[in-house]
Amino acid sequence: MRKIAISLLIFIGSLLSASTDTESPVVGILTQELRPNGLIMRHFPDKTSFIAASYVKYLEGGGARVVPIWIGRNHSYYKNLMYKINGVLLPGGSNWFNQSNGYAEAGEHIMQLAVELNHKGRYMPVWGICLGMEFLIYMMANNKEHRVDCNAKNMILPIEFREDYKSSRLFGTISYDVAVAMTTENVTSHWHRFCYTEQDFRNNPLTQIWRVLSVNHDWHGSEFISTVEHVMYPFYGVQFHPEKPQFEFHKSSIPHTAAAIVSSQFFADFFVSEARKSNQSFANESELAMMLIYNYKPEYTGILKSIYTQQYLFSNVEMGLEVRHAHPFG
Ligand SMILES: *[C@@H]1O[C@H](CO)[C@@H](O)[C@H](O)[C@H]1NC(C)=O
Ligand SMILES: *[C@@H]1O[C@H](CO)[C@@H](O)[C@H](O)[C@H]1NC(C)=O
Ligand SMILES: *[C@@H]1O[C@H](CO)[C@@H](O)[C@H](O)[C@H]1NC(C)=O
Ligand SMILES: *[C@@H]1O[C@H](CO)[C@@H](O)[C@H](O)[C@H]1NC(C)=O
Repeated sequence: MRKIAISLLIFIGSLLSASTDTESPVVGILTQELRPNGLIMRHFPDKTSFIAASYVKYLEGGGARVVPIWIGRNHSYYKNLMYKINGVLLPGGSNWFNQSNGYAEAGEHIMQLAVELNHKGRYMPVWGICLGMEFLIYMMANNKEHRVDCNAKNMILPIEFREDYKSSRLFGTISYDVAVAMTTENVTSHWHRFCYTEQDFRNNPLTQIWRVLSVNHDWHGSEFISTVEHVMYPFYGVQFHPEKPQFEFHKSSIPHTAAAIVSSQFFADFFVSEARKSNQSFANESELAMMLIYNYKPEYTGILKSIYTQQYLFSNVEMGLEVRHAHPFG
């Protein structure tokens, strides 16, 4: 009797999960290499890649569950995963994406698949933050470099909306109060040495691909693009770090005011609502359970003087890569 009741529960549970999978989307976050012989590798010698926990908490705060996307895997791995998850977040970092590295190689598979999925009418939103936005634009420009040098490190800025920002998908539903907070208070955390400019976008013309929703000015007063959305696909990029105000406490420029939290939350809520529009799912609950980030525990790396308060760290074995014996004896 008990057994039947449990099976019945599981059966009802599977019906419920099947009908609600758009309500609780699963979003992939791309991992990236740890700096070789850097601070974290010295403390955790078997770890080779990471995700800053702020990105995970940021999406979780919007109602999503997170799956890490490994670097260094083959196309079948990315294809399998991309046909199951409901969105992708390309995080910031200090990788050089125009040289061969795990982030760029994986990112290429991911973007090719994201375009393929959207092309097939399967909604696949992508959210690029800082380096992630730079990479997204680079990929959609057929790997052509459009970034220029700038200096927007260590800046906290309000958002300078373009006049028609309210007619965009991203800001179409923004409330008056949140828009006022974004434009009148220092709410966004900038830390980047490259910028895209509207002038370059107009000349090339990347304005046929991207809609520029906001700009900002760097330490030299040079204008750069700070928010974009793709004209056709649900791809979005922000040059600032909306995941930091709630979750990062390094002493560099991170606003923690109520206005900054409300602004950041707006972007998380928006992206997760985009992911809800995807109706892809894993084969079953156990397959999903194996992939979720809950299988890993973040480390308190802020105490080790990392710029990230907490980080998820992964070894080659955890990523399903061969053990490379990176630290042989002798
Ligand atoms: C991709 O890698 C997996 C293991 O990670 C392997 O089983 C599979 O055969 C590989 N596929 C191709 C096409 O190389
Ligand atoms: C959802 O799934 C159905 C059937 O698999 C498909 O026909 C439909 O296009 C999908 N909708 C979206 C928004 O992906
Ligand atoms: C924002 O920051 C700038 C420079 O850091 C400062 O001059 C300005 O007063 C700040 N604005 C607000 C509304 O706090
Ligand atoms: C769940 O799906 C995976 C992948 O398709 C499969 O290998 C596994 O047997 C399934 N498990 C259950 C309990 O149905």
